[in-house]
Amino acid sequence: MTPQELKQQLRAGADAVEAYLATCLHDRQIPQGLLSAMEYSLMAGGKRLRPVLCLTVAKLFGLAEAQVLPFASAIEFIHTYSLIHDDLPAMDDDDLRRGKPSNHKMFGEATAILAGDGLLTEAFAVMGSVAQGDASIPADRVLRALVEVATAAGSGGMVGGQQLDMEYTGREGVSYDELRGMHAMKTGALIRCACLSGAILSGADEESVRRLRIYGEGIGAAFQIVDDILDEVGDEAQLGKPVGSDIEQGKTTYPSLMGIDRSRELAQQHVDRAVEQLRPYSGAEADFLRSLAQYIVDRVS
Ligand code: IPE
Ligand code: IPE
Ligand code: MG
Ligand code: MG
Ligand code: MG
Repeated sequence: MTPQELKQQLRAGADAVEAYLATCLHDRQIPQGLLSAMEYSLMAGGKRLRPVLCLTVAKLFGLAEAQVLPFASAIEFIHTYSLIHDDLPAMDDDDLRRGKPSNHKMFGEATAILAGDGLLTEAFAVMGSVAQGDASIPADRVLRALVEVATAAGSGGMVGGQQLDMEYTGREGVSYDELRGMHAMKTGALIRCACLSGAILSGADEESVRRLRIYGEGIGAAFQIVDDILDEVGDEAQLGKPVGSDIEQGKTTYPSLMGIDRSRELAQQHVDRAVEQLRPYSGAEADFLRSLAQYIVDRVS
């Protein structure tokens, strides 16, 4: 797949997710001030990598996009909530996100906290909804995928990783193993789960579920290494978030521990191992997943 084709496919997936995100909160009784804050961050752009992964994996195993779209988009709710809270003054204290002022800069801290809470909670209502109605997915699959997402997003996953990130900030001597474990939790878990849940929802066999879990784990690890690299060498306008934030705050990162070149090598190794898991699969979706994995190392935003 050429870089141009990859871009087009990523854009097509992101468009489908955004069309869903644009209206999915409108039938809820959400106070306008809260809805505005939730939609502000949700609709501010972003690569939509996690929902696109979920959609693509589900399609690889035969599920129609329309069936899985709400579940995939709910993962983007959770990701967006994590970004809103990550930027708060009590956490990374960053003022720019997705090319716009951070949520708390626009709506104040209290509403930003609640906008995150709202997105997190609504995500579970949306995920559960794919077991209902016409074209529904069998409830046992939905339940299993939902438990995986809750576990990946929760205190033993993303939230726990964010706690470790805070504890390690400004601390001397954070080890490679500590950093790797923290990355796997704060970023790896949700990316892994986006892939895993796509496989579970589509009723893939257990061997495939296992392969997609490992693929997700690998690209998740690579993703945060590259995020750390881009925090040093990226372009703020392209990234849509501040550059140099990690150094300023005294975060231990891959580049701070081992330099940019070695970090890139490690990210590439994770991606190569991830792609290896896709060997049994062919066709458009498998090709897209292989190209997406490489894009994670090569990306500049
Ligand atoms: C940023 O994620 C936060 C991390 C987990 C590193 P993305 O780089 O996927 O952010 P968006 O969704 O494209 O804005
Ligand atoms: C954040 O990691 C991971 C999350 C769970 C949001 P970072 O703090 O490095 O993410 P950015 O660089 O602010 O997007
Ligand atoms: Mg952070
Ligand atoms: Mg941050
Ligand atoms: Mg970062």
